[in-house]
Amino acid sequence: MKLKFSIIISFVCSFVFSQNNSFVPGKQWKDTNGMHINAHGGGIVFVDGTYFWYGEFKTSGRSGNTSLEGISCYSSKDLYNWKNEGIVLKVDQDPNSEITKGCVIERPKVIFNKKTGKYVMWFHLELKGQGYNAAKAAVAISDSPKGPFIFKKSYRPNKGVWPIDFKEENKTGSANEDALKSWSPEWLTAIKNGMLVRKDFEKGQMARDMTVYVDDNGKAYLISSSEENLTLHISELTDDYLDFTGKWTRVAPAGHNEAPAIFKKDGVYYMITSGCTGWDPNAARSFKSKSIWGPWESLGNPCIGPDAELTFHSQSTYIVPVQGKKDQFIFMADRWNPKNPIDGTYIWLPIKLEKGKPVLKWLDQWNLSTFSENQ
Ligand code: GAL
Repeated sequence: MKLKFSIIISFVCSFVFSQNNSFVPGKQWKDTNGMHINAHGGGIVFVDGTYFWYGEFKTSGRSGNTSLEGISCYSSKDLYNWKNEGIVLKVDQDPNSEITKGCVIERPKVIFNKKTGKYVMWFHLELKGQGYNAAKAAVAISDSPKGPFIFKKSYRPNKGVWPIDFKEENKTGSANEDALKSWSPEWLTAIKNGMLVRKDFEKGQMARDMTVYVDDNGKAYLISSSEENLTLHISELTDDYLDFTGKWTRVAPAGHNEAPAIFKKDGVYYMITSGCTGWDPNAARSFKSKSIWGPWESLGNPCIGPDAELTFHSQSTYIVPVQGKKDQFIFMADRWNPKNPIDGTYIWLPIKLEKGKPVLKWLDQWNLSTFSENQ
C-alpha cells in the first residue's frame, strides 16, 4: 500500500514538475505551468543570472497575428525551462493610442541601458486598420525586466538625414524614376541608388522587421527592414537608447532581407536574415563584417541538409549568446502558423562557424553540451 502510494506521488510529481533538459525544435514547448510558450518573433536579454524572453503574444484564429494583449515575457535560468512572467507591454484600451488593441506589434527586442538603468524595448509597430503601411519602429521603457513597459514613442527613423556613405549624386533622383517597372533591371538599380531613401527622406525611413544590438562599447543599433523591405538599415541609437543619433547605413540594397538577427565573435559581426515571403518560410541568408558600418559580405544560406532552402520551415528572430560561453550562440527562429498563430512553434539550433561562415544543421533534439561535442 505504502509503495503504491509513493509510486503515485512520484508519478504526479514528475508530471507536475517535469523539467525540460533539452531543446526539441518545432515541437510544442511547455512553460513551467505546462502551457505552450507564447512569445513569437522574440528576443532575449540576460540579467543577473536570468534570461528574459520577450515575444509577440499571439491568439487563436484569423485575428491572432494582431496585437490583442501585447508583449509577453518568460524567464529562465537554463534556457530550457521558462516561467511565464505575463504581459509586460499591454496594448491600450484607448482607441486614440498608437498601441491600441488591434494594432500590430511585432519582433520586440529588449536591451538594458547601463547609464540610465532602464530596460528599453524596441518593436515594429503598425497602426490599427492600416495594414503594414505605417512601417514604424517604436520604443517602450521599464525599470524592471519584468515590466511594466511604458510606451514612449514611435518613429520613422532618420528623418531628413542621409546614410553616412550615401553618394552625393544619389541625393537627387532622375525625373522619371517613379515610372520604372518594378523588378526591372533599371528599377533595381534605382533602388540600389536610393530611390526609396529619397522618397522617405522628409518623412523618415520605413522600419518593419527589426532587432536591436548592444555592442561591447555600450553603443546600440536598430537594424530594420526598410525601403519596402528591400534594404536593411542600421541606425545608431542615442546614449539612452530611446532615439536615433542620425548616423546610419544601408546593408544589401535591393537584397530583400527581413528578420535580421546578429551576433559578434572575435571582433567580427555576423548577421542572419530571411527573404521576404510573409509567413511562409524561405531560405535564410548570412553576412559578415568587421565593422557594424560595413562593408557587409554576403555568405549565402547558413542552413545545410534537408529543408535547408526553407530554413527548416522557420524564420530567424534572434541570436542568443549563451552566457559565460565565448563560442556558443543559439539561432532562434519562428515556425509560424498563420491559420492559428498561437500554435506557432520555435526552432532553436546551435550556430557553428565553419571557415568563417555561420552554419545551421537540423537537430531533432539537443542540449547545450552539443556545442562542446561539435566545436
Ligand atoms: C513576415 C515578417 C513577420 C510579419 C509577416 C507578416 O515576413 O517577418 O514579422 O511581419 O511577414 O506577413
